[in-house]
Amino acid sequence: MKQLSNLFDMKLNNEKISMVTAYDYPSAKQVEAAGIDTILVGDSLGMTVLGYESTVQVTLDDMIHHGKAVRRGAPNTFVVVDLPIGTVGVSDERDLEHALRLYQETGANAVKAEGAHLISFITKAAAMGIPVVSHLGLTPQSVGIMGYKMQGATKAAAEQLIADAEAVQEAGAVMLVLEAVPSDLAALISKRLAIPVIGIGAGKDTDGQVLVYHDMLNYGQEHRAKFVKQYGDFSTGVEALHQYHEEVRGGSFPSEAYTYKKQVLEALD
Ligand code: KIV
Repeated sequence: MKQLSNLFDMKLNNEKISMVTAYDYPSAKQVEAAGIDTILVGDSLGMTVLGYESTVQVTLDDMIHHGKAVRRGAPNTFVVVDLPIGTVGVSDERDLEHALRLYQETGANAVKAEGAHLISFITKAAAMGIPVVSHLGLTPQSVGIMGYKMQGATKAAAEQLIADAEAVQEAGAVMLVLEAVPSDLAALISKRLAIPVIGIGAGKDTDGQVLVYHDMLNYGQEHRAKFVKQYGDFSTGVEALHQYHEEVRGGSFPSEAYTYKKQVLEALD
């Protein structure tokens, strides 16, 4: 398994880090078998596997449930699990309890927390020994306020994002996920920070890339953002299911090949 130190070495050696989301045992097994460097159990599971409109409905128990399954499917991959909305940023005591539960119960290598307002949480979690990945730029938990749009687009916003990125690193964040920001800004932040910066919709000059499993494999997702490249097509599952339906209705499934022999009745004769 890659350790945090390996991911830092990759940054130093200009080796790109791959990250993909996974939410359950089989997807985690696939991601590990593909040799991907890191897995994110993102709260995007609210949309991809639970059918919600956004990540806002996702709970800590949801993340623990899915995080455990991913760890079972990918025992040898560096796994990061999301802290969902409202679980941190309330009070130090409560924040740390939630982070500790998520970290301990899932067996993840790090937890991820969205937003620049979590400096106190990141500092205290780091002191306690919990590795925290920060997430800045477009933070989907704040969709009700910022919407799904590119961040850091003005000079003031870009300067703020640079300051926020430096502040989370200073507080003790071990990695940064940077979402939907102009590529030149993402390149500058990646260069300035010592911690690995993983981009999504942030151009090619970050230290690594993350994509959502269901988006890149066309699995049950209708909308695909501009920055998502489709690498596979799991929508063909519908054709397979339809064929099964037709064969059951037409009586051609199960054929002899899928049937136990009728030895019991023959023995009764
Ligand atoms: O929840 C998630 O999948 C994420 C990625 C979009 C980075 O946070």
